[in-house]
This record gives sequence, C-alpha cells and structure tokens, in this order.
Amino acid sequence: MSTLSSVPTSTYLNYIGGEWIAAASGQISEDRDPASGELIGRFQASGQEDVDRAVAAARAAFDGWRRTPAPKRGEMLYRVGTLLAERKEEIARLLTREMGKVLVEARGDVQEGIDMAYYMAGEGRRLFGAIVPSELPNKAAYGVREPLGVVACITPWNFPVAIPSWKTMAALIAGNTVVLKPATDTPLSALKLVEVFHDAGLPPGVLNLVTGSGAAVGMPLVRHPDVAAVSFTGSNDVGREVNVEAARTLKRVTLELGGKNAIIVMDDADLDLAVDGILWSAFGTTGQRCTACSRLIVQRGIRPALEERLLERVKGLRLGHGLEAETDVGPVINRAQLDRIHGYMQVARDDGARILCGGEPAADGALASGSFFKPTLLGAVRPEMRVAQEEIFGPVLSLIEVETLDEAIAVNNGTKYGLSSSIFTRDINAAQTAMRDLASGIVYVNAGTIGAEIQLPFGGTRGTGNGHREAGLGALEFFTEWKAIYVDYSGRLQRAQIDV
Ligand code: UN1
Repeated sequence: MSTLSSVPTSTYLNYIGGEWIAAASGQISEDRDPASGELIGRFQASGQEDVDRAVAAARAAFDGWRRTPAPKRGEMLYRVGTLLAERKEEIARLLTREMGKVLVEARGDVQEGIDMAYYMAGEGRRLFGAIVPSELPNKAAYGVREPLGVVACITPWNFPVAIPSWKTMAALIAGNTVVLKPATDTPLSALKLVEVFHDAGLPPGVLNLVTGSGAAVGMPLVRHPDVAAVSFTGSNDVGREVNVEAARTLKRVTLELGGKNAIIVMDDADLDLAVDGILWSAFGTTGQRCTACSRLIVQRGIRPALEERLLERVKGLRLGHGLEAETDVGPVINRAQLDRIHGYMQVARDDGARILCGGEPAADGALASGSFFKPTLLGAVRPEMRVAQEEIFGPVLSLIEVETLDEAIAVNNGTKYGLSSSIFTRDINAAQTAMRDLASGIVYVNAGTIGAEIQLPFGGTRGTGNGHREAGLGALEFFTEWKAIYVDYSGRLQRAQIDV
C-alpha cells in the first residue's frame, strides 16, 4: 500500500479504496512509446483478486456516494475539471508519449475531459426526473433517476483521457461508483486522470483503477455479480463478447464499437473546405478515431480535381514523433496494428483498388524505432470491397466515385456500422436530405466526421453499438434507472385502475 501512484522505478500501481496498491500476483507489464519504443513505465498486470478487491471497495463506497447530494457530487467534478485544466499540458505530453497522437490533439483529448467534468458538474444541479399527474385525487406521482450501483468502465487507447472521462464522470454524477479498466496500451493517461480525482478529494472507493489485460481484468469485471453495468468502447468482436457475457448476469451494457465513416463531397461543394475537412478527419489521430473518415464518396464531376488536390496534400503530410512541432501524423499504436493495416494493402490490390500514395510502413531514420504507416489514399474503390467495408483504424482513405446524392447516401449507409457521416455541399436541399437519410448517430454538414462535442449524445446505429449513447443526456440515461414514486395523501385506500 502506498500514498503515491508510483514507486521510484516508475512502476505504477492500481488505485483501490483510495490507496495505491500492487496487483496480488506481483506481475507487471511494460508500456512503451509507439513512436520511439522507449519505456514509459511498468504497470500492474492485475487479475481476478484485484478485480474482487476493487469491486468490493466500490460497493462499500456506494451508499455514501449515492446519498451525497448530486450538486455536491457536481462540486467534486468541478474541482476535477479545474485540476485537469491546471495539469493539461503535463498530461497531454505524457499522453502523446504513451499513445502517439500529436501534441495539439493530445491537448484536445485532455480538453474533452475538462469539458465533460464541467458539463457533468452542472448536471449535478439538474438530473431531471419527471412529475406527472396521478389519475386519482390527492395523490402525487413522480419519477426520479437512481444510480445503478458499481459500474465497470472499460476504455480504449485512442482517447486515453477523454473516453475514461466521458464514462467515469457521467457514472459518478449519477451516484454510481466505478472500477476503471484502461487499455493496456495507455494505462498512464488513465492513471493521471485518477490522480486528479484523488487530489480533488474524491472519497475512497468511489473511483478505482485496475490495470491489466482484457482477459484478466476486463472479462472478470463483466462477469462479476456485484457489477451492475458495463460501459465498453473497443472493437466489434470484443464488444459482442462483452454483451454475451454480461447477459448471463442481466447487466446493462453500453457498447461503442467503431465505424466506417464517410464524407460525401457533392459537385457544388467548396473544394478547399472539403479538402481540409477530409485531411483532418482521415489522417488526424493517424486515422485512429472511431469517428475517423475512412471512405470518401465523391460525385463524378468534382472527383478529378478533388483527387488531385488531396493527393498533393496527403503526400505532404509529415510523419514523426507527436511531440515534435513539425509532425502532422504520429505513429499507429503498436506493431500488431501496423501489420494489420499493412495487410489491408494486399486486400485492396487483390480486390482491384489502386494505391495512389502511401501503402506501406515508414521506417526511415528515426521512424525505424516506431510503428509508422504512410498516409494512404486508395483509388478506384468500389463500395463492396473489403477496404470500404471493414474498419482498418489507421491512416488509410478509400475514394469511391458516385453519380447522384441518392447513390452517395446508399453507399454511406451500406456498411454494418453507423457512427458518423458528413456531407460537403452548398445546396440546402441536398444537405437537408442527407441529414434525414444518413443512417448514423452523428451527421455533419460542411465539416468532417470527427470532433463531436460532449454535450450531445455520442454513438451510432447498427453495428456501431447496442443503441445506447455516451456523453450528453444519453450518458445519464445509461447510468441511471427510474424509480416511480406514488404518494397518496387522500387518507383512504384508493385503488388505481379499479372501477368503483
Ligand atoms: C472515438 O474515436 O472513439 O468526435 C472518440 C470525435 C472525438 C471523440 C472520438 N470528440 O472525434
């Protein structure tokens, strides 16, 4: 047990019941910079025993926290937001080293956590319920939102501060207590977030951190009988497994599982604006956002000009370490992901697509020690090809030509995912039609597919998830359940639904 998050060798600990504790097994795992291979720190490779301890601590803290008035819980989150803002630069730099995204984006990642803290702090003074009339005289009827209990938040590596913030802050304002299991590639960012909660004075056990693999920590949390709900962001395959396992104990589950997001560019679009939006959405965060644009659906007339302009800009993107000011695109998260993305290039060729630029790992000079993939534009892609259907999660954009708006919308909707879509047009009728017919949880007009703000629900249709939303009021709906309360002040037995 320790009052600090790390011991001198930069071995970081779990956070359970307000204390920093080593995993029961004594096992550790290494966390490395994907741009340089440098060791960032050693983390606890936890297991069932640590999960049990964390869940027990969260359970013990639940009654105290749910009875803490929601505005007071909000004040706690406000302090978290303020501290996070003070530490924004320090945490962003660690985040870049740990995850690879360029520094401006790492700052944005932390900013999203700050935004969520302030937003949810305000929700502490709302958490609106419902007051409805009773069908009987002298009787009150209303509904209140109640917390679920102990919730497990299982988070991905691509937004190492933002996504843990979305999940934990929404869960906490609603009165739940939390066990957070961050991705094995980005435990340090999550730990820094948890330190902020600790320093803000969050009572022990209300938020707990257990690091380790999905198999050793994630699944035991999903199966745990004392965990009431699971909020998971990650791959489609794992999400499905989480849902099936959670069903055995009737847990509520929210799944955010990615996308195959498209930008539609119509002939009448502002070409410069569209090119900027495409570059940002496809190659920002090295294409590793669930919301990243991986399909470009272009109307025939503007296709040649757009392709030419885009090609020139993509070729000009500079790869490098995210802390270097001149870097446009950082590494991909690890070697396994690098190989996976590279594998898709053969798939593209076999299916008849053309690699217009990129298409291979970059390993010149300093890039050799990291996992870098050249920003890639694929031409002559047809909507049914695998590269246009499967989530690649890297800096790869497929260009698909269409003739009409109807065709563009059909192509957009023709994948198993439905997270984010976008249209560039100056035609109000086309924009309005797209807003109605694009089958995704998020739609942008004259902006790319990334950059959702936290005060609106975030999530997608179909294979992107299971119908729940994160952020905004969607998150509060997930993390609360309704209690209906009837107060009869008539002084006699009144029987609802019974004819007298
Ligand atoms: C994600 O990629 O999982 O809308 C989250 C966006 C960011 C969040 C992305 N605010 O691009």
